[in-house]
Amino acid sequence: MIIEQILFSHSFLIQVFLGFLIGGLLVPFMAKTPGGFKKASFVYTLSFQALLTMIAFVGTVGFVMGEVGMTLSIVLMIVIWIVMMYIEIRRYKLIKIGNLQNGQTYKLLKGAFLKISVLQILLVVFMVIFKIMEAKGVISIS
Ligand code: HEM
Repeated sequence: MIIEQILFSHSFLIQVFLGFLIGGLLVPFMAKTPGGFKKASFVYTLSFQALLTMIAFVGTVGFVMGEVGMTLSIVLMIVIWIVMMYIEIRRYKLIKIGNLQNGQTYKLLKGAFLKISVLQILLVVFMVIFKIMEAKGVISIS
């Protein structure tokens, strides 16, 4: 069934995305210079948005083709998607306009990068756990 493949792609992309987020925790440790950190942050945000957009695209195709209906769980996924994109844009802007030549600001922004990444990871993990519990019938809010 094509719909099964679409939903498999959705959950596969989410696993790849989670791996990307966890790997991204290394960015502040790998960056050696403020310029390098700024560049890495740019590439990171581009990849983040590309992956998250793919997740939404495949999810939307699954939603339409699977005739899933607007369940609370779909609304939750859309809300989490918007929140994650918003946080990511804020993070990128913060690092872009921040004066990284100032040692203290540089340190502060590296810390902020890590904290934001942890928050993004928690949002994805929350959604995955939510879907598992829903599939097991622990929560039924559809
Ligand atoms: C616009 C955004 C999105 C749309 C339209 C969407 C749509 C869907 C649909 C139609 C399903 C299958 C039906 C169901 O289980 O309710 C699904 C499953 C799922 N979605 Fe999304 N989704 C979106 C974003 C996200 C995001 C951002 C996450 C994670 C943070 C996520 C996590 C999941 C998980 C874990 C499943 C269960 C997969 C499985 O059963 O293997 N979705 N989504």
